[in-house]
Amino acid sequence: MFFGSDNGAGASKPVMDAILAANNDFRLGYGGDLETREIEQKFNDLFETNCSVYLVATGTAANALALSALTPSYGVVLAHEFSHIVEDECGAPEFYMGGARLTKIAGEAGKISLKGLENSLKLYSKRIPHAMPLKAMSLSQVTEAGTVYTCDELTALNGLAKQHGLNTHLDGARFGNAIASLNCSPADMSWRAGVDVLSFGATKGGALALEAIVFFNQDLANEFYFLRKKGGHLLSKHRFLTAQMKGYLENDHWLDNARHANKMARIMAEGLSKKKVRLAYEVQANEVFPLLTETQDKALRAKGGIYYPWGSRDLTHNPKGDEKPFRLVMSFATTEKMISSFLDAIP
Ligand SMILES: Cc1ncc(COP(=O)(O)O)c(C=O)c1O
Repeated sequence: MFFGSDNGAGASKPVMDAILAANNDFRLGYGGDLETREIEQKFNDLFETNCSVYLVATGTAANALALSALTPSYGVVLAHEFSHIVEDECGAPEFYMGGARLTKIAGEAGKISLKGLENSLKLYSKRIPHAMPLKAMSLSQVTEAGTVYTCDELTALNGLAKQHGLNTHLDGARFGNAIASLNCSPADMSWRAGVDVLSFGATKGGALALEAIVFFNQDLANEFYFLRKKGGHLLSKHRFLTAQMKGYLENDHWLDNARHANKMARIMAEGLSKKKVRLAYEVQANEVFPLLTETQDKALRAKGGIYYPWGSRDLTHNPKGDEKPFRLVMSFATTEKMISSFLDAIP
C-alpha cells in the first residue's frame, strides 16, 4: 500500500526496454549521438514549435538550471510560497542562480492567483540600484497541492509577468498528469500559455532518472550548454537519458502512464468519500490529500499504508476535530487492488 510518492514506483517497461536497447555498440558521449538529435526533433513535433532541449537526471537540476538562465545573479524570481523550488530543493535554485533570490507569493491550493501576482508586482520596490529587480516567475503544473492551472489561468499569469518584463518558467515535474487532466495539447499548456522555459518531468511518470529542460524562448537558451556542463549535469553516457526519453514518449506511453495515475487518484478519492473521509483539496491529477483522524491513520499504518503527513497550510478544506492532512500519490504502477486494500483498512 505504497502511496508515499510517484517516485516509489520503478521505471516502466518501455523505458527499461529502451535503456537495454541502447546498451550496445559505441556512441558519441555528452549528447553528441544521432539518437539525441532525434529526441530533440521529437520535442519539436510534440510541442509544435522549434525548441531547445537539454536532458538532465533530476527535477531539482532541471528547475535550478532553468532558473539560472532566466535571471542574472542580482535578480528576483517569484514563486508560490509552498512550491518545490522554494521548499524542497535545499537552495539549489539560489545556488545555481549565483545570488539571485526566490520571493514567495501566497495563494490557495498551491496556486498563485492573478490578484496575488498583481499585489506582488505592486509591492515590489524599484529602488535602482539598491533593490534587486524582478526578473522571472516560476509556476508549478501540477502544483504541490495536486491542483492544476487551466490554460487560461497560465496565460493570464504569464501574460501579466511578461508585461512587467519577467521571464517565465513552468515546473512540470508532473506535466503529463496535468496534460491528462486538462486534455489539452502540450503546446497549449506551455509556450502558447506564455511559458518561456519548461522543466518537463519524466521520472515521476515512469522514467528512471530523467527530466528535460525545454526552451521555447530561444534567446534564453543562448549558451545554456555551458550552464548545464558547469553545473555538473551534462551526462557522459548521455545515450541513456536519450533512451529513457525515447521509451517514455514513444506511442504516447507518457500520457498512458499519466492517465492511469490520474484515474487511480479519482478511484481513491471516490472510495475515500464513500468512507466519509474528507479531502483537503480537490483532486485534479494524481495526488489525493485526505483528512484522516488519528485512529484512521494508526489503523492504516498498522496494515502497511505508506504515505506522508501534509502541512496544514493553503488547504481548501480545513481539518476538524483531530483530523490531519496527509498526501497519497498515485503512479503508473498503482493498482486498484492497492487502493481497495487501503480503503478496507480505514476503520
Ligand atoms: C513539483 C516538483 N518539482 C520538482 C521535483 C524535483 O525532482 P527531483 O526529486 O528529481 O529533484 C519534485 C520532486 O518531488 C516535485 O514534486
